[in-house]
Formats: sequence, C-alpha cells, structure tokens
Amino acid sequence: MKVISTSGVALTLALAYTALAGSTLHDGLNVDGKTYDYIVVGGGTSGLVVANRLTEDRRTTVLVIERGYFDDKPEAIIPWYGNLLDTSVLASVPSAPNPKLNNATFPVSVAAVVGGGSVVNGMGYIRGSKSDYDAWEELGNPGWGWDGLYPYFRKSTTFDPTAPEAASKFNITYDPRAYGKGPIHLHIPEFQYPDIATFWDVLKHQNSVAIPLGSNIGNGPGAYWTPSTIDARDATRSTSRKGYYDPVNATRTNLRLITGQTVKEILFSNDKPLTAKGVRIVSALDNKSRNVYARKEVILAAGAVQSPQLLLVSGIGPGVQLRAAGIKVRKDTPAVGANYQDHATTMIRYTLAQQSFPNPDTIFTNATYNDTVWAEYLSNKTGAIAGASATTLLLLSLPQLSNFSSASSVSARYLAQNPSTYLPSTYSAPLIEGYKAQRRILAKRLTSTSASVVAHALLGNGFFPGPLLKPLSRGTLVLNASDPYNFPIIQYNTLMNPLDGENIVSIVRHARRFFASPEFVPVSPVMELVPGAQYSTDEQILDALTSDPMVLWPTLGHPSGTCAMMPERLGGCVGPDLKVYGVKGLSVVDASVIPLIPGGALQATVYAVAEKAGDLIKARG
Ligand SMILES: Cc1cc2nc3c(=O)[nH]c(=O)nc-3n(C[C@H](O)[C@H](O)[C@H](O)COP(=O)(O)OP(=O)(O)OC[C@H]3O[C@@H](n4cnc5c(N)ncnc54)[C@H](O)[C@@H]3O)c2cc1C
Ligand SMILES: *[C@@H]1O[C@H](CO)[C@@H](O)[C@H](O)[C@H]1NC(C)=O
Ligand SMILES: *[C@@H]1O[C@H](CO)[C@@H](O)[C@H](O)[C@H]1NC(C)=O
Ligand SMILES: *[C@@H]1O[C@H](CO)[C@@H](O)[C@H](O)[C@H]1NC(C)=O
Ligand SMILES: *[C@@H]1O[C@H](CO)[C@@H](O)[C@H](O)[C@H]1NC(C)=O
Ligand SMILES: *[C@@H]1O[C@H](CO)[C@@H](O)[C@H](O)[C@H]1NC(C)=O
Ligand SMILES: *[C@@H]1O[C@H](CO)[C@@H](O)[C@H](O)[C@H]1NC(C)=O
Ligand SMILES: *[C@@H]1O[C@H](CO)[C@@H](O)[C@H](O)[C@H]1NC(C)=O
Ligand SMILES: *[C@@H]1O[C@H](CO)[C@@H](O)[C@H](O)[C@H]1NC(C)=O
Ligand SMILES: *[C@@H]1O[C@H](CO)[C@@H](O)[C@H](O)[C@H]1NC(C)=O
Repeated sequence: MKVISTSGVALTLALAYTALAGSTLHDGLNVDGKTYDYIVVGGGTSGLVVANRLTEDRRTTVLVIERGYFDDKPEAIIPWYGNLLDTSVLASVPSAPNPKLNNATFPVSVAAVVGGGSVVNGMGYIRGSKSDYDAWEELGNPGWGWDGLYPYFRKSTTFDPTAPEAASKFNITYDPRAYGKGPIHLHIPEFQYPDIATFWDVLKHQNSVAIPLGSNIGNGPGAYWTPSTIDARDATRSTSRKGYYDPVNATRTNLRLITGQTVKEILFSNDKPLTAKGVRIVSALDNKSRNVYARKEVILAAGAVQSPQLLLVSGIGPGVQLRAAGIKVRKDTPAVGANYQDHATTMIRYTLAQQSFPNPDTIFTNATYNDTVWAEYLSNKTGAIAGASATTLLLLSLPQLSNFSSASSVSARYLAQNPSTYLPSTYSAPLIEGYKAQRRILAKRLTSTSASVVAHALLGNGFFPGPLLKPLSRGTLVLNASDPYNFPIIQYNTLMNPLDGENIVSIVRHARRFFASPEFVPVSPVMELVPGAQYSTDEQILDALTSDPMVLWPTLGHPSGTCAMMPERLGGCVGPDLKVYGVKGLSVVDASVIPLIPGGALQATVYAVAEKAGDLIKARG
C-alpha cells in the first residue's frame, strides 16, 4: 500500500527525467494513414500483454499507441520506490465532491507511462478468491470463473523463491501450484522488518484464521505470505513493459509501439453495422491529428478511466449523456461509465511504543540508516530497498469481522433494499437489473466464510489500512459536457449505500480487537491513532471516518467495472468474448471489463484477463 511522501527530492529528479524521456524517445510521426492488423490503445499493463501475444505469430502486425513515454529512471525500477507515488508518470485530477464524505474531492490517479499501472503501483500481487471470479461467471460470462482464469493467472507469472536462510528465519512459505513460467516475476523479499515476527505470532493466535502454505490459489480469508511484482534475478520491479515488451521489441518487427501519442477517438467505416476501422491520434510533439487503421480490431487497453471515455467521445454510451455533450449517438449503451468500483480504504493506524530497529519508518527518520540501506542495494541489490509493499496479508470474511448473525443481518437488509435508492440517479432499467444480479451474488458473499471483505497489509508497523473489498455502492464516470476530451468526471459515490458504512465500522471494531491481542506485548503499549480510540459508538466511528479526508480514501488506484462484461440485458458493455456490444472490430481488454471488483489488488487480475483476451482474439483470427 502507498505512503505518500511530500519529500521534494524524488519529485525534482523525476521531473528532470521526464523532460529527457520526452525529447529523446519520441516517435511515431510516420504512422499517418498506415494500416495494421490490430491497434492496441494504451501501452499499459494489459495492452502490452495483448500486443505480445498477438505478435507471437510474426505475420500479425500490431501498433500499440501510448500517450506516455518509456521511463527508465530509478523510481520506475527500484522496488522501494513502490512506497512513494511517482506523480510525474500519473495523470491525476480531483474527483467530483463525494456527498457522503463531507463533499470532499479525492484524486483520481491513473498511469501515463509505457507499462501503465505496473510501473507506478505498490507491487502487491494478490488474486481474489475463487468465489470472486465464479461470480463473474454467474453473471453470465461462461469461461470467466476461477477455473477459466486460473490457467491465465499461472501463464502470466513466475515465482522467484525467497532464499532459504531468510525463508526459514521468517517461516516464509508459498504454494508452488499458483505459478507458472510466465513473464511477470513474483518474489517475497529476503529482507523483512523484525517486528513482522510479532505480527505473525498474533496471526497464529487468532481464532478461526486459516494459515495456508501460500496465497493466490483461489483461497479465501486467511493469513498469508503474498508476493510482490519483483524480479529477484536483478532485484527490480517486474512490470508489463519488462515482462512483455522489452524481451521481444528487438526481434518482432511486426510489433510497433509509439509513445507521446494520445488516441482522441475511434473511427468507424460503417454505421450499419457499426464497424471500427481505426483511431485518430494526436502527437504531443506537434499537436497534429493523424489517423491509423486496423484491418481486424481496435483493442482498447487505456484503463478503466480512459477506455470508457474513448467509447463515450466516439458515440458509444448513454444516449442522454452523449447528446448533452453534443456527441452523435452511434450506439446507446448505458453501461459505459456506470458500475464504477474501487477499493475504498480506511487508513487505520496504531502507534507501537517499542518498535524494533529497523522498522518501516526508520528510512524516513534516520539518515545514517537510509544511507546504509541505499549503499547496500546499490552494491549488492539486497536489503530494505529491494522490497516495498507488505508481503504479509490478513484477509477476513464479514462473519469474521463481526459475527455470523450480524453478517446475516447485513445481507438480509441488503436484499430488502429498493436497489435504486442508493444507486446513481442515472441508472436506467438494464443497469438496475444488472445490479440486482450482482446483489444476489454479493448478498451470499457477505455471509460466506470463503469470500474476503477486507485485506489488511501488514508491514511490521502500526499502519493497518483496511480496504473494503466488497463495495455495495457504485460510482460513475461521465464526460465533462463542456469539454468531452478533457479528463472525465468521476463520482466515487463512496458509502452511498449505508451498509458499506456498517461494514467499514466492523473493520474498525475488528482492528481494535486485533491490536488488543496479548501477543503484541513486545511492542506495547499499543495505541489507536486513526480513527482514534475516543470514538466509541458506531455513529462516532463513522463520523470520524467520513469527516476527515485523510482517514477514508475512496480509492486505492483500482478503478474498474466501467465497461463491464455482462449480458447486455443486464446493462453489460462487452460480452464474454470482450467485444463491445453492437460494434464490429472493437474490444476492451483492461480493468474496465471487470464486472465485480475482486477481493485482492487489481494487477494480478488485469494480467490474467489480458492473457485470456490474447487467446480469445487470436482464436477469432
Ligand atoms: C498509484 C497506484 C497504485 C496501485 N497499487 C497497486 C498494487 O499495489 N497492487 C495491484 O495489484 N494493483 C495496484 N494498482 C492497480 C493496478 O496497477 C491497475 O489496476 C492496473 O495497472 C490497470 O491496468 P490497465 O491495463 O487496466 O490500465 P493501465 O495499466 O493504467 O494502462 C492504461 C494505459 O493506457 C494509456 N492511455 C490512456 N489513455 C490513452 C489514450 N487516450 N491514448 C493513448 N494511451 C492512453 C495510459 O497512459 C496507460 O499506460 C495501483 C494503481 C495505481 C494507479
Ligand atoms: C454537499 O453538497 C450538496 C450539493 O451542493 C449539498 O446539498 C449538501 O448539503 C452538501 N453536504 C455537506 C455535508 O456539506
Ligand atoms: C517460525 O515457526 C516456528 C515454529 O512454529 C516458531 O517457533 C517461530 O517463532 C517462527 N518464527 C517466526 C519469525 O515467526
Ligand atoms: C525497440 O526496438 C527498436 C528497434 O530495434 C529500437 O530502435 C528501440 O530503441 C527499442 N526500444 C526500446 C525501448 O528498447
Ligand atoms: C500542444 O497543445 C498543448 C495544449 O494546448 C500546449 O500546452 C503545447 O504547448 C502544444 N505543443 C506544441 C508542440 O505545440
Ligand atoms: C535516502 O537516500 C536516498 C538515496 O541517497 C535519497 O534520495 C533520499 O532522499 C534519502 N531519504 C531520506 C529520508 O533521507
Ligand atoms: C540510525 O541508524 C544507524 C545505522 O544503521 C544506527 O547505527 C543507529 O543506531 C540508528 N539511530 C537510531 C537513533 O536508531
Ligand atoms: C555486500 O555484501 C557483502 C557480502 O555479504 C558484504 O560484505 C558487504 O558489506 C555488502 N556491501 C554493502 C554496501 O552492504
Ligand atoms: C454480533 O455482532 C454485533 C455487532 O457487531 C453485536 O451487536 C452482537 O452482540 C454480536 N452477537 C453475538 C452473539 O456475539
Ligand atoms: C470541464 O472542462 C472545462 C473546460 O476545459 C473546465 O474548465 C472545467 O473545470 C471542467 N470541469 C470539471 C468538473 O472538471
């Protein structure tokens, strides 16, 4: 998870490198009027996977269009920087004011760099549980349950085991069945802060918390070691660029990636049947428009914010909204920009009076230690700088967070709601039907002991972020009607459904019991800093969470669901073949298609979806 640093040092460095990247690696002014078999819009996490797989057949030509640049600066390569947010490669704008969070606005941050989110994220690699993906299949997507996705989870990953000495010191284990021989390398770093052992002692003494060999085999709630996207061979970040693009760039002349080029809209050859034929792009170098064409398909991989925006500006979306923005309606699809989901997170924090040396905070407070660990990384590629995100996780079901009768009550009251009461007012009949189908599944998951409602990342200090993994509220993404090509307007709608608030209160109450565990004595006294022990009733806790924008974040950078894979009568946007309904030659392969957000971090799922997309698109020739 992220700690946002306000230190200007990294930032200044980053800006200098951006200028360099922009001036030296710019390219692609000569694609004007050219035709490729496929155009992939966005050279991010999913786009590079699909481009790699399609160009395995050397007769297939692919053009990848990326608005960002290649980023070779330390922030994009050295694992520890996963703790910071490299804003130089992010497009970030404020959300719409959130009605249930005191009308505060929160950043919407999406990657703008070759490799996309995989270059800037916290590197946590966490698949959801089996039931999270089985829900996708239950929603009407044959082949997209856990069994259909597991081969692609494995195909995309290789596990680099922890060196035996460190593994036995910290009892680090993993389940080898979960991984294959794929391009993305996963690793649980040898370096662990010593207090993590105290946390494991606490975990072992929790009632009813399973401790399996490892994560990522579809298992549900439990305590696990879980890997980060780190390539142990050279102790660097493992990204979609490093795994799927760099190894093939020099040899595959059928693969072309252009940078600094923004796709503005989709071009169509025909209105009946509506057929995508290419895209219009604008180069940052000269601000000129150029058209490029696809013989077979235009493939959207611009992420869950920009892929729906491209559909909208191209006339595919809710008719009412498009007309208001002065855009010709080509296909009235209410799903585009609806069903917005992310992991709202409570930034629970405790102080531990007797932390060991070193701990995750030492780097920021002790300059000598900082110098030492950087020197160690630069010469040996080991130590604290060779890792970042937490590799110990605690996932819990709702019955574990409260109790079975309380969870059953939440589930029953959820089913009894009039769904439109808490949904965005723009939701029309098919979207409400689709939400009801989601609700039938979610209501079961809320009482289940095999579906997770929170995933606490344990770093070995008192930071205990609590992302809500089963959000019942739904956000929206709409065009800025006065400037449709500007960043779209995102309304997170966090806590619109009051049951989300109840579940977050359960997360806080459980955290209090967890930190009261007697096994914390070695680091005690332990005190609740956020939200604060002074808040005791449910109302007081919720009020503390919703009145301070630093305490409850609507996002962990996991936007999804904005072009959902669901049947069209349920307000879907793409089918199980990932083709946009009612349009020929147009597919979506990124986080937009996720119908229900899984209970993990998103990149694991995005890689698997993109691998499966590669096979589906190849198969239709
Ligand atoms: C700050 C942050 C932290 C995160 N932490 C984690 C984590 O620890 N673990 C985890 O699993 N997940 C994490 N995630 C989420 C994960 O990284 C994303 O879900 C995933 O990368 C999304 O992949 P994608 O292919 O859908 O989109 P992206 O990877 O964002 O790719 C979209 C690409 O399209 C490009 N693009 C967009 N619009 C256009 C256009 N019009 N023309 C040309 N190019 C365009 C973008 O520049 C970008 O490169 C984090 C995300 C963020 C932002
Ligand atoms: C938030 O803004 C809306 C619309 O402007 C207003 O009706 C509402 O009272 C505001 N809520 C808070 C808590 O300020
Ligand atoms: C590892 O496991 C052994 C046996 O359960 C236990 O005694 C030891 O304390 C554990 N070490 C850590 C660091 O958790
Ligand atoms: C990709 O390959 C081309 C052709 O060999 C080369 O010019 C370019 O620099 C390479 N790009 C990267 C980022 O390695
Ligand atoms: C392109 O347009 C943007 C926005 O209008 C402007 O900031 C930039 O300077 C322009 N670049 C060139 C090369 O004209
Ligand atoms: C730690 O060292 C690195 C590398 O020298 C430096 O960039 C960073 O600013 C230092 N951080 C602190 C908090 O001193
Ligand atoms: C700071 O780090 C140095 C080097 O690791 C260590 O020797 C020293 O004890 C630390 N100081 C404090 C106050 O922890
Ligand atoms: C690198 O590793 C060697 C061998 O373990 C060790 O002696 C040396 O001190 C390390 N260098 C740094 C800078 O930590
Ligand atoms: C179950 O939890 C609820 C709230 O979390 C609490 O009010 C109730 O007393 C608990 N019931 C039992 C049987 O523990
Ligand atoms: C919409 O675009 C206009 C024109 O660029 C801009 O001034 C305005 O701030 C945007 N609105 C929002 C809510 O972002």
